[in-house]
Amino acid sequence: MSKVTAIYPGSFDPLTNGHLDLIERGSKIFDKLIVAILRNSEKQPLFTVPERRDMLEEILRKRGWKNVSVDTFEGLLVDYVVRRKAHAVLRGIRAISDYEYELQMALLNRKLQPSVETVFMMPALTYSYLSSRLVREIARLGGSVEGLVPENVQKRLKEKLRKNGIPPTPRGRRKSGR
Ligand code: PNS
Repeated sequence: MSKVTAIYPGSFDPLTNGHLDLIERGSKIFDKLIVAILRNSEKQPLFTVPERRDMLEEILRKRGWKNVSVDTFEGLLVDYVVRRKAHAVLRGIRAISDYEYELQMALLNRKLQPSVETVFMMPALTYSYLSSRLVREIARLGGSVEGLVPENVQKRLKEKLRKNGIPPTPRGRRKSGR
């Protein structure tokens, strides 16, 4: 059978342990997995695309997943998939609430490019409640994101919020137990 390359697209603003869980699962079933960060999203991001890419690359180096790489893309996802000669799009489904949007995207992507398959995987149950949006909110409000994001992301979140002029609250100053 020929080698299968999958694209794992997303905003990754920031990368969470749920994303990492999915990357690990994807790396085991695909020959090659490209984590692709969307550029030029209309959303107001917390981290720039190069910052997000840096954080992802740091983690990949640390984990030593040889078949996983990071890239960025803009425009239609299916066009990028074809350009990278990939075969599938990997997306995570955490709960039923994700399903409707993901199904809509998968079917529209299929309509645009019938050769591209979308593969859904479920992250570990521990991460089923986790999202980048809530991580940003918790961090902004001074809560602990320990266990929700990798350590390098925790560090960058603190730096970013400090730079943005958001003072650490007593909760944010609390020393971690480890
Ligand atoms: O992490 P996210 O924000 O849920 O990722 C969404 C993403 C990047 C997968 C989606 O917005 C996307 O594919 N954007 C590229 C533009 C595109 O192809 N749009 C048509 C989708 S049917």
